Amino acid sequence: MGKRVAVIGAGPSGLAQLRAFQSAKEKGADVPEVVCFERQSNWGGIWNYTWRTGTDEYGEPVHCSMYRYLWSNGPKECLEFADYTFEEHFGRPIASYPPRAVLWDYIKGRVEKAGVRDQIRFSTPVRRIEYNEDQQNFSVTVHSLAEDRMYTEDFDNVVVATGHFSTPNVPKFDGLETFNGRVMHAHDFRDALEFKDKNILIIGTSYSAEDIGSQCYKYGARTITVSHRTAPMSFHWPDNWEEVPLLTCVDKNTCHFKDGSSKEIDAIIMCTGYLHHFPFLPDGLRLQTDNRLWPLNLYKGVFWEDNPRLMYLGMQDQFYTFNMFDAQAWYARDYIMGRIQLPDLETMRQHSQAWRDREEKLEDDEQMIWFQGDYVQELIDETDYPSFDVEGVNKTFMEWEHHKHENIMTFRDNSYPSLMTGNPQPAHHTTWLKAMDDSMESYLKSG
Ligand SMILES: Cc1cc2nc3c(=O)[nH]c(=O)nc-3n(C[C@H](O)[C@H](O)[C@H](O)COP(=O)(O)OP(=O)(O)OC[C@H]3O[C@@H](n4cnc5c(N)ncnc54)[C@H](O)[C@@H]3O)c2cc1C
Ligand SMILES: NC(=O)c1ccc[n+]([C@@H]2O[C@H](COP(=O)([O-])OP(=O)(O)OC[C@H]3O[C@@H](n4cnc5c(N)ncnc54)[C@H](OP(=O)(O)O)[C@@H]3O)[C@@H](O)[C@H]2O)c1
Repeated sequence: MGKRVAVIGAGPSGLAQLRAFQSAKEKGADVPEVVCFERQSNWGGIWNYTWRTGTDEYGEPVHCSMYRYLWSNGPKECLEFADYTFEEHFGRPIASYPPRAVLWDYIKGRVEKAGVRDQIRFSTPVRRIEYNEDQQNFSVTVHSLAEDRMYTEDFDNVVVATGHFSTPNVPKFDGLETFNGRVMHAHDFRDALEFKDKNILIIGTSYSAEDIGSQCYKYGARTITVSHRTAPMSFHWPDNWEEVPLLTCVDKNTCHFKDGSSKEIDAIIMCTGYLHHFPFLPDGLRLQTDNRLWPLNLYKGVFWEDNPRLMYLGMQDQFYTFNMFDAQAWYARDYIMGRIQLPDLETMRQHSQAWRDREEKLEDDEQMIWFQGDYVQELIDETDYPSFDVEGVNKTFMEWEHHKHENIMTFRDNSYPSLMTGNPQPAHHTTWLKAMDDSMESYLKSG
């Protein structure tokens, strides 16, 4: 029997893996059998929006952490696939910060063209993976939800592409049980209109805090208070925003902060990040890390060093996204197909440690972007993934940072040239703050 590869998850990372194999097949290569197991009933990962929160119709945890009116938080020019441009998909240049539905359509377009959907078993979560030392393969146990049946199949390689922004990290604060309003994590945030005319408290200072706060502002929250553990975000916020130190305790609707101040609050939204969570993997195979640019134990950011037959995609904190997942997937494919050999364990560890040492010295976002760009470049240099202007992407990220610091409420009104086609991209017909309709139809209509 030929080689078999299990891909877990059909989000942007898992789909990159399917596309990588299909691209080799297109060029005449003899590729392994690839089976992708996906817990949801459709593809796209967290871009596959649902109104549900908590558990789904089968009692499975809802994967989606996205919300209505979410627009890309970085320029689309930085995530563009090198083998499938926005212009190919939409037939013309479009503005740089598309809403969720537009990006979901783009993700789908490439894999529809590649014709890989029949390799995916939907509504089929992976429950358990075991490594069989004697056969040097993996037994993968899955649950067909529609049939309510568990079964096990063996695979030579496993690629874990289950994402890491879906299992909420929820800290505890004294007195929360006395609070008289809604306490929720960003994972369950769906519609900012829920918080119209409310005084909201956001905990955390990263992308979710910044964007959920901005959404609530845009859709009419009365005041937005953001509580930080480490440091305030320090953008130029509108007048009804305030940045305060960490929440210390809650007494009914009164929230107390570390500097002794307090405030009356209607709803608390914890934008406190996510956990890398792989309940289907045993200790010896399970990645354990916080959200960072260089998790250890993954050679080239992909291969489980103690057993490289197991691979992980997209486990890093992300400036680069779709094209980084591609770079990883092409590299994983070439290892699986015997085109790339991996060094011995000691050499892999030294290589990872050198990246980690560099990561620990990074001082700001700009250095982090160049770091991740160098990583992407290292991967694409060794495969036939179409080479692209990584330096140009880094520079676009620099402009993005600059625009955010200029004005956090207008940065999405800028446009940047495509690094793949070289063509300028138009400004959107309506400024972000005034664009209440986030549908694909509205976004794509001209002027
Ligand atoms: C709120 C939010 C907004 C974001 N916005 C942007 C943005 O604007 N631009 C950007 O580039 N990136 C954004 N990201 C980053 C995001 O991580 C990537 O865009 C991308 O979705 C990651 O792809 P992935 O395939 O690695 O993971 P995911 O998209 O999370 O997909 C993982 C897939 O694995 C499946 N799965 C999980 N467990 C199992 C299991 N046991 N068995 C079978 N299947 C399983 C899930 O159902 C899911 O389909 C955002 C992230 C969040 C949380
Ligand atoms: N398209 C969009 O607009 C959009 C919107 C939202 C999110 N996203 C994406 O979603 C991903 C996840 O972003 P994220 O912001 O959810 O997570 P994150 O980047 O991991 O940030 C986690 C935040 O939680 C804080 N935190 C963690 N534990 C805490 C505690 N016990 N008490 C107080 N604060 C605590 C951290 O503070 P410290 O700094 O103190 O550690 C940090 O500010 C990113 O890739 C982002 O790009 C995109």
